[in-house]
Amino acid sequence: MKIAILPGDGIGPEIISQAVKVLNFFGLGESLSYSSIGGAGYDEFKDPLPEATLKLAQESDAILLGAVGGWKYDELPREMRPERGLLRIRQALNLFANLRPALMFPELVDASSLKPEIVSGLDIMIIRELTGDIYFGEPRGISKNEKGELEGLNTMRYSESEIRRISHIAFKTASKRSKKLCSVDKANVLESTELWRKVISEIASEYPDVELSHMYVDNAAMQLVSEPKQFDVIVTGNIFGDILSDEASMLTGSIGMLPSASLDQNNKGMYEPSHGSAPDIAGKDIANPLATILSLSMMFKYTFNDNHKSEKIENAVRNVLKKRFRTKDIFSENKILVGCEEMGNKIIEELENA
Ligand code: IPM
Ligand code: MG
Repeated sequence: MKIAILPGDGIGPEIISQAVKVLNFFGLGESLSYSSIGGAGYDEFKDPLPEATLKLAQESDAILLGAVGGWKYDELPREMRPERGLLRIRQALNLFANLRPALMFPELVDASSLKPEIVSGLDIMIIRELTGDIYFGEPRGISKNEKGELEGLNTMRYSESEIRRISHIAFKTASKRSKKLCSVDKANVLESTELWRKVISEIASEYPDVELSHMYVDNAAMQLVSEPKQFDVIVTGNIFGDILSDEASMLTGSIGMLPSASLDQNNKGMYEPSHGSAPDIAGKDIANPLATILSLSMMFKYTFNDNHKSEKIENAVRNVLKKRFRTKDIFSENKILVGCEEMGNKIIEELENA
């Protein structure tokens, strides 16, 4: 197997180093190749997705990404910005299925801003369509309208086949979990999501064991903070998924804990923490590497079909939390504060002793 490692910007390199320790522990050191993306790609090659990086990603079975973005790049033309690198690699590799779990670790219930009874035991899987919608819809741009006034334009669109393939992933995921699937749209206002609702409802008949429900996105945003445990698997389009997955991540109190997977039709995947590059804490050895390490757990599960390693990693994380080790973002009274590097070492100790 071949794994591309793209550390990216900000805290990316430090959290990736900890995840690489885990890959080395499993004897995969020889399978790794590094390349730059985001601001790092721009610095090195004047391109947020350098050609060599795309080629490496295409040739690899899986990709581990740190994070992209930084203040330094905010003034660059849109095409050169770090975020473009991320959007382009998603599109170029056809990574249309984005899996974003929001899982509450019992040890961290107090870290949530919501009451413990509302969030304890929370386990939601958000499936976000990742290569369509208003993110990629044409036409787009900023130009003068007939009145001579500048106008910004984006296009929200979904084709039947795009809706169909993400729906199948969602139903399959739901049938392996609690068999409840909630599709989120804005079908009362937006035609592109009216079609979304129609297509996913048709596909439902192929999965009689899964109970499909529909919810408007504004209501879903509200329900997520009032009664989040009603959800198991949520499926939605690119822009709604972007917003709802950030919201869901905060239910667990700690965006520093949440992994993600972006998969193509053949389960080739790019794995990354759900959090960003956090330039304000970069280089200080205080970032939480657990989301990145848990992303590896997803990599073994989804791309390499190796549930054994996947569970081993997840158990190591649980045990480290049980032993009260915490990075700054999840620290509370009576816990043991550790840095990024030390947290990585604690995970390795757990793996060695398992
Ligand atoms: C995410 C991020 C990206 C997105 C940005 C960085 C382009 O917010 O992965 O959720 O909007 O998809
Ligand atoms: Mg986002």
